[in-house]
Amino acid sequence: GNKTFTMLKPDAVENGYTGAILEQITASGFRIVAMKLTQMTKADAEKFYDIHKERPFFGELVEFMTRGPIVAAILEKENAVEDFRTLIGATNPEEAAEGTIRKKYATSIGENAVHGSDSDENAGIEGSFHFAGREIF
Ligand code: GTP
Ligand code: MG
Repeated sequence: GNKTFTMLKPDAVENGYTGAILEQITASGFRIVAMKLTQMTKADAEKFYDIHKERPFFGELVEFMTRGPIVAAILEKENAVEDFRTLIGATNPEEAAEGTIRKKYATSIGENAVHGSDSDENAGIEGSFHFAGREIF
């Protein structure tokens, strides 16, 4: 798989980190093949995070992800899914490696600045959730 899907989450956009994070992503060898500033509705977030619906933090996650605009993007690179998750670091920024995007820009385990797909299959599903074919280059 050579593609992954990412979102710069509402905290990252609110805090003015969009440019710095995109710079780190492209400097790390990822090519942006689709991108937009958008805001998820409650229904969108519930569908996107359906796999987490039984988790205790689900309500908080939906509330957070819908509170402001996000940057959604599809990224291309060899071994994209795994390399991007290495670049962003652990879910909890306190556990994220030095220099990773979450270590530098995340606030907490919930407000953790960036999303990265966890499999090639989910990268495809998540990319199609946010982008029409004509928006992917
Ligand atoms: P994503 O790339 O965003 O999918 O993160 P992840 O794959 O590292 O983590 P996971 O899929 O397990 O969780 C999805 C998202 O739910 C996380 O990125 C957090 O925003 C949120 N989340 C996970 N665990 C917690 C938690 O314990 N508390 C809260 N408030 N949010 C959490
Ligand atoms: Mg995940």
